[in-house]
Amino acid sequence: MCGIMGYVGPRPASPIIMQGLKRLEYRGYDSAGIAVAADGVIQIRKAAGKLDRLVEAMAASEPSGAIGIGHTRWATHGPPTDANAHPHADTTEKFAIVHNGIIENFFELKEELLAAGREFTSDTDTEVLVHLISDEYDGDLAEAVRRAVKRATGAYALVAVAAEQPDTIVAVRMISPLVIGFGEGETFLASGIPALLDHTRDVLVMEDGELAIITAEGITLEKLDGTPVDRQHMKVDWDVEQAEKGGYPHFMLKEIFEQPRVVADSLLGRLDGTDVILEGVAWGPAFEQSIEKIWITACGTAFHAGLAGKEMFEGLLRIPTEAVYAHELRYRDPIVEPNSLTLAISQSGETADTLAGARLLHERGSRLLAITNVVGSALTHYSDDVIYTRAGLEISVASTKAYTAMLVAQYLLALRLGQSRGVLDEARARKVAAALEALPGQVESLLKREEGIDEMARFLASKLADENDIYFIGRGLDYAVATEGSLKLKEISYLHSEAMPAGELKHGTLALITEGTPVIVVNTQAHVYDKTVSALQEVKARGASVIAVAYDDDTEIEHYTDHVLRIPRTLDLLSPVLSIVPLQLLAYHVADARGLEIDQPRNLAKSVTVE
Ligand code: M6R
Repeated sequence: MCGIMGYVGPRPASPIIMQGLKRLEYRGYDSAGIAVAADGVIQIRKAAGKLDRLVEAMAASEPSGAIGIGHTRWATHGPPTDANAHPHADTTEKFAIVHNGIIENFFELKEELLAAGREFTSDTDTEVLVHLISDEYDGDLAEAVRRAVKRATGAYALVAVAAEQPDTIVAVRMISPLVIGFGEGETFLASGIPALLDHTRDVLVMEDGELAIITAEGITLEKLDGTPVDRQHMKVDWDVEQAEKGGYPHFMLKEIFEQPRVVADSLLGRLDGTDVILEGVAWGPAFEQSIEKIWITACGTAFHAGLAGKEMFEGLLRIPTEAVYAHELRYRDPIVEPNSLTLAISQSGETADTLAGARLLHERGSRLLAITNVVGSALTHYSDDVIYTRAGLEISVASTKAYTAMLVAQYLLALRLGQSRGVLDEARARKVAAALEALPGQVESLLKREEGIDEMARFLASKLADENDIYFIGRGLDYAVATEGSLKLKEISYLHSEAMPAGELKHGTLALITEGTPVIVVNTQAHVYDKTVSALQEVKARGASVIAVAYDDDTEIEHYTDHVLRIPRTLDLLSPVLSIVPLQLLAYHVADARGLEIDQPRNLAKSVTVE
């Protein structure tokens, strides 16, 4: 989710690259850098912090030359420091690269390169690639890149320059986006169309597994195996603002639609059969076997992800688990048992309440695991272990993709603990791992399905937009999802909504259900399916208008509901990753139908860094 800009042509490259990076900066980044090749030398400037820090570094000495690459970083491996900022050069400083995405096997490659005497100057996964390119180079940069990427696995966009070939940029796309822009005698390259629009509207979008050899005159496009590719350019008629949102009207919608990639990235390199590799988790098997209690602390959406975690850890692992709002926890006097593990969950890693709650449990002897989206965030500084969620930058205040990534992180943890504690036998572990692997495709098919989940959500939203009170119900994991569905709706639509366990209705809230009251039910958990149906019958008998979220193959649910939002069948344990998607879309479309400011709802901030 970083930004890339490249230029080759007759003009000075530095200002063009900086302008492109500026265009990509709306996403907010943690470091930036630029490499320009001229006279057999590659000049690199880079700086941690916002782009302004790089601008300052450039003011002191701007690299001159007519070919270059630049990068804005959203850290995934290694904290945001000057050394970890891209571009990265090899030891000879004859090659420089920028890279988006993740190199799954970087650890093994790094070991190999270290053993061969290569020196590393950063903690990034990226740096292995530039050493590989340098090793493979015999006068042809494209061949060196081709051979280097054959050795790497993962999802990435890679862009390279060589001091000895100051007329060529080589780019490879493997899942992470890359777009080439064509000018008069000059060629541009970027990770997103907004960076190109100051120069050209004549673009070509690279596809996965393609390599482009880019010169001022144009490009040669090939498959990684060398097969030529012939693809039409396209004319972009978006304005810059539309382009920043990838053509979506709001960042929230864009981020909802990014979830297939987010789930895939969150799993990338972390599942090897049933083995779970968590790169930031330092504890050993002895600790895993000793855990007697899990604490989960967080706020808002992150807390709702933790509620799902609680169900999962207790249900699957049989470990007593307590999920506590961090703002409550910090003023309690918690009894922290020995051998406890705390999960502090926070997209930003900066939420003041979460930091305080997590610290308290840590000080009282619990091991602290941060689950966060921001590398090097405050939470990671005093955590013992970290799982990064890899959702990429989330701009909309209403959190969507970060939530699904938090769920995936907890599933991975549960799968690992289940095996090491002997509560998940191999067959069951295989089933869970296979279902996890299938999730990215299922989220994608849900968002893209013919009958249109988005259209269905928009249609139902038009019915809900003028309501005053909306109730969300479910049991167990479905209740956890209901809490998040309700929060999404209220924070951007300003409608009153409440979530409760389905069994709780009859203890009071049922008094509020009258003719036409909207009730949204999540019903995916087989062991309590009939019990939730009973609650549905109770609200139906009072005239409620019921919308259900249920599996595709559930033929019973429509007997008790007015409308059904369908999701693909998965293990009940994993259903939250799918069942939340229609609720996110529903919230979005209700707010849209009410004409509200969706990405920045009133009174709310993306990160609540004060008490
Ligand atoms: O950055 P964090 O995950 O710690 O933020 C916690 C909450 O403030 C956050 O999830 C908030 O509830 C979202 N805006 C909800 O969409």
